[in-house]
Order: sequence, then structure tokens, then C-alpha cells
Amino acid sequence: MNDIQQLEQRIQELIALWDAAKDLNSHLELDKVFDHILQQMMHVIGAEAGTLWIVDAEGQELQAVSAFGPAAAEILDVTMPQGQGIVWKVLETGQAERIGDVSTHADWNGRIDRESGFHTSSLMTVPLIIKGQSLGSLQLLNKRDGEGFTEQDLRLAEALAHQSALALHNSQMYDELNRMLLSMIRTLATVLDARDPYTSGHSGRVANYSLWIAQKMGLPLNECEELYKAALLHDIGKIGIRDELLQKPGRLTQEEYSTIQQHTLIGAGILGNMEPRRAMEQAVATAKSHHERLDGSGYPEGLVGEAIPLFARIVSVADTFDAMTTVRSYSNGFTPQQGAAELVRCRGELFEAEVVDAMIAILEECDYDLSTYKTERRYQI
Ligand SMILES: [Fe+2]
Repeated sequence: MNDIQQLEQRIQELIALWDAAKDLNSHLELDKVFDHILQQMMHVIGAEAGTLWIVDAEGQELQAVSAFGPAAAEILDVTMPQGQGIVWKVLETGQAERIGDVSTHADWNGRIDRESGFHTSSLMTVPLIIKGQSLGSLQLLNKRDGEGFTEQDLRLAEALAHQSALALHNSQMYDELNRMLLSMIRTLATVLDARDPYTSGHSGRVANYSLWIAQKMGLPLNECEELYKAALLHDIGKIGIRDELLQKPGRLTQEEYSTIQQHTLIGAGILGNMEPRRAMEQAVATAKSHHERLDGSGYPEGLVGEAIPLFARIVSVADTFDAMTTVRSYSNGFTPQQGAAELVRCRGELFEAEVVDAMIAILEECDYDLSTYKTERRYQI
């Protein structure tokens, strides 16, 4: 290979690397990042199959979180106990390994080949390490042209592994932050609900119903997640309303009623002060407008129709249904069937028709027992 050819090859490698890195950083959801990292690596290097192994939280096992190739289904979710096989060796030493013929190699553990029926001949394994933290290792099997992986393949894989480790680290941090945020929001909602025995579990149920409605309406996953959080916090402003007023049995005076109505504005005020502001916009709008009604008869602003934010239109149906069907200081509660009939009666007038239809479809699907309802779409909550 002459100098120009070498230079051309180097440029090709850099382009592949740049492309892969650009693509890797465009995703933050962990599952997508796993698949992306592996697919990029297989594509750039040219491998028949590949597996991405990630260390579990205790550092005891490597788990196959992504696999592509003929035996992918069998390999996915397989675990490798600490110290076993090349994937662990590479991770522990931090040194990539390239093997031309695995059958003669001392560290080769043929268990997965035997279990999956796949035949591994050549192999390349690179560690995913960032800032001294071992995240996992990435294994490529059988070079596509059949001649085994080259020294250049190894160099490229190592460079790509560095980018991958960075993307992986970012998405793991994002995942952790997201879970932490969700658990804090849940705790806040639980604390709020616990103040009043009559509303115990209210925010959680409203969040579930809102999520199910949104899924039924076909909202994208990120909006479903956003709505779930906003719904958990919809009544947060009740923190600012006195207990004896919230729990007062019987009719409220006009003055008491307008004080309770303030919880929408108080909630919007509380959430509006949280950072980052942009991330809280939907939750602010939901807390403020979940008592608005389509015909303008709601509060605090008397908004009409689509002037009411979509999340608030969804939460208002979920909230009203839960309020109607649970025992309150001021009522004994409707059956789910009676609650559904009431929503239908107000369909298109107080509540958006599409939202009511989604809620009714959900109720019919679970035979009016929402505790048994199973959503069709995966969402980790
Ligand atoms: Fe409310």
C-alpha cells in the first residue's frame, strides 16, 4: 500500500468515525444507544454478528444488552459471570483483543456458540471504558470478507469504542437523572395525596389514566412521558390550601370555593419557579388549566376549546373521572359505569370528545376495572 492509498484509507476511517460519532450522540434513550453503538461498529468494520456487553450495577456480571446477527435472539439477555470469557478479560485489562481463529484460543468460551448454534471463527473485542470506569465490552464476530479482522479494523474499533463509551456514559447519566426526577416527582405527589385521606393515591391514578388516554390517542412516547409527570403534579398547588378547607364536608361557601380554585394558580407558580423553565412549561400549563372546561365554564381563566392546552384537556378528564369515582368528604362516589356515563354526558361540551372516547375505550377494554388495565405500549414508570 503506497502513501496515497494509506492516506485515503485513513480518511475513510475518519469519515466513518465522524459519521458514527455524529449519529451516536443523536440519541439519549439507553436502548436506542445500545443498538446504535453496535450497529455502527458492525457497519463500519464489516462484521457478520456483534454483541454489546454491559456491566451490571454491582459489577458482577456482563449482560448482552444488544445483539445483531443470525443468533441474536439467543444471545440477547445472556449474562457472563465475572472473570469468564474474552469479554471479561478485555474489560479487566483494558486491552482490545483480535483473534483470527477462536477454536485454538485459550480464553475462548464456546458456551454461547453451543447454545445458539452460531459458528464463530474470527473475533474482535474492545473495551468500553470512560474516565477509568468500565462500562462493558463490544464484541464483533466473523469479518464479512471472511479473512479475519485486521490491525486497522482493531484501531478503528478502538477509536469508535471511545466515542461509544462517551455516548453510553451520557445516556446512562441521562437515564439516571430521569429516574431520579421521576421518583422525586412521585414522592412529591404521594406527600400531597397523603395530606387528605380522601384523596390518597389521587395524583398517581390521574397520572396513570392520563398516560393511558394519551397512548390511546397516539401521542408520541416523549409526550406521554411528559404528560405523566405533569399529571402527577397537577394538584401540587393544594399545598398552599388549608387542610380544613380541602377536607370540609358538605357545601362550600362562595369564598371558600374561590380559595380552593386558587390551587391552580398556586401550582403554576410553584412549578414555574423550577429549573430549567423550558422543561417545566407543560407541567405549569397543566397545573394552571386542568379545571378549564371546553365551553369556557372552567377556571381560572375561562379558556374555551383548543385554547386550553392539550395536556390539561386530557388531565381534566382523568381528574374528573377519579374525583367522581372515589369517596370524597362531600360525596360517596360513583361506580366506574356511572362515571363513564357522566363523561359521555359532558362529551364535547365540557370535555374534549376525543379524550372522553379514549377514556371510555380504556374502561370498556378492562371491563370497568381500571386496576386490571394493561397498556399496549411499553413505558417504564
Ligand atoms: Fe385540581
